[in-house]
Amino acid sequence: MNVYDSARMTDVVAPLGYQPVDEMAEADLVIFNTCHIREKATDKLFSELGRLHEIQLERQTKGERIIVAVAGCVAQAEGPEIKRRAPYVDMIFGPQTYHQLPEMIAQITRGAGQVLNTEFPPEPKFDQLPEVESQNSISAFLAIQEGCDKFCSYCVVPYTRGAEYSRPISDIVHEAKHLVSQGVKEISLLGQTVNAYHGEGADGQPHRLGYLINHLAEIDGLLRIRYMTSHPSEMDDELIAAHRDVPKLMPFLHLPVQSGADSVLKAMNRKHTAKDYLTLIEKLRTARPDITFSSDFIVGFPGERDMDFKATLKLVNEVTFAQSYSFKYSRRPGTPAATMPRQVPEEIKDARLTELQELLRNQLRTFNKSCVGKTMPILFENAGRKGEQIKGRSPYMQSVHAAGSPTLIGQEIQVKITEDKSFSLTGEIV
Ligand code: 5AD
Ligand code: SF4
Repeated sequence: MNVYDSARMTDVVAPLGYQPVDEMAEADLVIFNTCHIREKATDKLFSELGRLHEIQLERQTKGERIIVAVAGCVAQAEGPEIKRRAPYVDMIFGPQTYHQLPEMIAQITRGAGQVLNTEFPPEPKFDQLPEVESQNSISAFLAIQEGCDKFCSYCVVPYTRGAEYSRPISDIVHEAKHLVSQGVKEISLLGQTVNAYHGEGADGQPHRLGYLINHLAEIDGLLRIRYMTSHPSEMDDELIAAHRDVPKLMPFLHLPVQSGADSVLKAMNRKHTAKDYLTLIEKLRTARPDITFSSDFIVGFPGERDMDFKATLKLVNEVTFAQSYSFKYSRRPGTPAATMPRQVPEEIKDARLTELQELLRNQLRTFNKSCVGKTMPILFENAGRKGEQIKGRSPYMQSVHAAGSPTLIGQEIQVKITEDKSFSLTGEIV
């Protein structure tokens, strides 16, 4: 979502004459778009800001000015703290106010002082944003939903991104068609709880994600649809049926489970059990037999016992994931889990993470190996590093290299996978 937001910010400031540059030292405006999900992500901000401040001071000696902004969820959650620790930051604004960037920049250039803008404005920012221009790639993101009402007990998102909001279907279709007219072939629909989508249709009624996907699949020239991130409790029958009925919907689903132990899932306020998750996986496999899954996991949640961690390993072995993300529980101030008793010591978290990641890595390797010898459609996105080599993605998000002309970029072509190179696959165009 931050990648999408950054692209939209680029579109917002483009009419003011700002163009992206490669080096931070060359910029007149630097926006750090931040993530607050784990402490590590937050820490990164302050070290990057320190680095930029040195450049800022150097440019000042030449009479030049760099406007420095902190955007995103760290800005939303820790605005006053950023102001205190980094007084040279000009603008601090959250994920819901970046459409107001031109006014904020005007305020700074007028010398009207530091901007702190972390309101949740009543009007949705999507209505105020200019047409998408800066996602001129083969594969693009499209935010259809934002915010979260789930309140998992470890998570900051409901506080930083705010309540669930779904964009109307007509706006999404308009944006999708615009992307396709610019050459986009694959759209990943985004939302913090994307499958809680319930946007208004032409009939004035709310519709769910399965309906929207069916609708978007009718767009000529759009080859692939994906969506993320989903909550297991929102996988309704209409969406499962879309996996059966819509060939453009890719057979790869990121469906975070977080833990395989019911007591932990309950304390996390996840609203599903391990069994519910396994049943759902079965339903999805019945709907689309070639579907593969990825997930997020948290180890060392407060109160997680050894047997609970074992239950997570068991679930992983039962499902088998093609890819996954796993994290040590990170205490986030203001969330219910931060003050829960029985916080897990760091060494135990480390050991559990290592064990889980090894299992997940093996599953990824096994899956990649199983692809060797198979023929699958690859959507080519760009030129490879070597001459006459092109790079694309499989339906399962694997990176695939093949010998071929750059004129094939933007096409979905059958490729026989010949080699597994751990981080990517190699194949031959059939
Ligand atoms: N600690 C560790 N991981 C977290 N996530 C969210 N909050 C925390 C936290 N406090 C993980 C979850 C989520 C992913 C985006 O980040 O696994 O699915
Ligand atoms: Fe955070 Fe996802 Fe839970 Fe919402 S559903 S609170 S975004 S982990």
